[in-house]
Amino acid sequence: MNKEKSAVQEKSERGSFSGKLGYVLAVAGSAVGLGNIWRFPYLAAKYGGGMFLLVYLILVLTFGYALIMSETALGRMTVKSPVGAFRTFGQKPVFRFGGWINSLVPMIIVPYYCVIGGWVIKYLAEYLKGNTQILADGSYFSEFTADAVSVEGWFIVFTVLVIAAICAGVKHGVERVSKIMMPVLVVLAVVISAYSVTRPGALAGVKYLFVPNLENFSLMTVVAAMGQMFFSLSIAMGILYTYGSYIDKDIDLEKSTKQVEIFDTSIAVLAGLMIIPAVFAFSNGDASALQAGPSLMFITIPKVFASMGMGTLVGVLFFVLVLFAALTSAISLMEAGVSTFMDELGWGRGKCTVLMSVIIFVLGSASALGFNALDFITVFGMSILDFFDFLTNSVMMPIAALATCILILRAVGLKAIAEEIEISSAFKRKRMYNFCMKYIAPVFLIIILLSSIANVFGWIKM
Ligand code: PHE
Repeated sequence: MNKEKSAVQEKSERGSFSGKLGYVLAVAGSAVGLGNIWRFPYLAAKYGGGMFLLVYLILVLTFGYALIMSETALGRMTVKSPVGAFRTFGQKPVFRFGGWINSLVPMIIVPYYCVIGGWVIKYLAEYLKGNTQILADGSYFSEFTADAVSVEGWFIVFTVLVIAAICAGVKHGVERVSKIMMPVLVVLAVVISAYSVTRPGALAGVKYLFVPNLENFSLMTVVAAMGQMFFSLSIAMGILYTYGSYIDKDIDLEKSTKQVEIFDTSIAVLAGLMIIPAVFAFSNGDASALQAGPSLMFITIPKVFASMGMGTLVGVLFFVLVLFAALTSAISLMEAGVSTFMDELGWGRGKCTVLMSVIIFVLGSASALGFNALDFITVFGMSILDFFDFLTNSVMMPIAALATCILILRAVGLKAIAEEIEISSAFKRKRMYNFCMKYIAPVFLIIILLSSIANVFGWIKM
């Protein structure tokens, strides 16, 4: 009884969402971001198109589902962020480590996320100035990123926006704005992709994105799809523990998870449809264009806009929406870091926000300058930004997810998770969930982890 009361009290101090819709929107706002619009298309382009999409979908529906349910249920059960949630079930080093690795991931992602956010603002500013044709020039992006002052400056602009939003406590404001911006984003994405797929030569791109070709399969397809699934759904980084800790016991976890997965994946596929067919249409059959990596969106999308009527207007609108999606995600990433510091260091919100800002500034500047002033530094052959991306998505997130699996299998018990979920609804996919957690997840995560490390050290070629 007492315990129950303290949980309720604690919940009101932590704040909570304004109900089911508020919760789904907040999770969707965190999930839909640069991961869907910038990261998914370039990975799909690079790692096999339809094959990548197929592997990605399978992972989202099995693993992704099991992990979202696990993290949210653990957060709701313990009313804690990851470090605290892990500690609730024991002091063993493996649990302490598990909590921390989940919390560290967002702290490493948010700095480079802000660098990409800066690129988005830069492009928005250029569209506002009407430089639609200049942006469409194939070398514009590399010239921009070669300019240290510019990249660093726009990174700082984006970061300041995120920090300002956090300080202003706009969490609830974000909830409200999301209700308008998200649907507008969907409509615009549909319009742009319809335009993109009807360009001459674009159909080959549609085929590339949707038709799996076994020849394009490699272990790297699975590693990349897995990392993307973590990144895009905001899993294996403590976010959903924190969000789960904010929700009431009457929210149907199964249904809201399904809604978030459908929404997040649809936006990613739409972004793929905006970008990949355009690569085919504008590259005159040059397959190497598919390999562009992180710069793909910034090179292809401007070409699409430059060829459209009212391209400048579309450009402005598009980058405003991407900026918004990036901001909501960056806010939730930074919040996760701040709340971990608050819980663990016992400091106030202000001090923790300053600490997090310093981390963003240092790691973000390194990522931004990695394209210019520091371009002589490469880590395992990757630029600094790529390295942080690889380190988090392909190494730390599988470990973090594995830690959650171990916590559930060894300490919490599958039964307790099922009971938590069943407080609010039937648990229809329980058998699939249990099978996934018990057998597939641990084995698969270890294989992924080992193979991505072996790949970096050049022991295997993927
Ligand atoms: N899921 C977000 C995206 O797709 C990124 C993100 C990860 C946001 C983790 C919050 C937490 O861009």
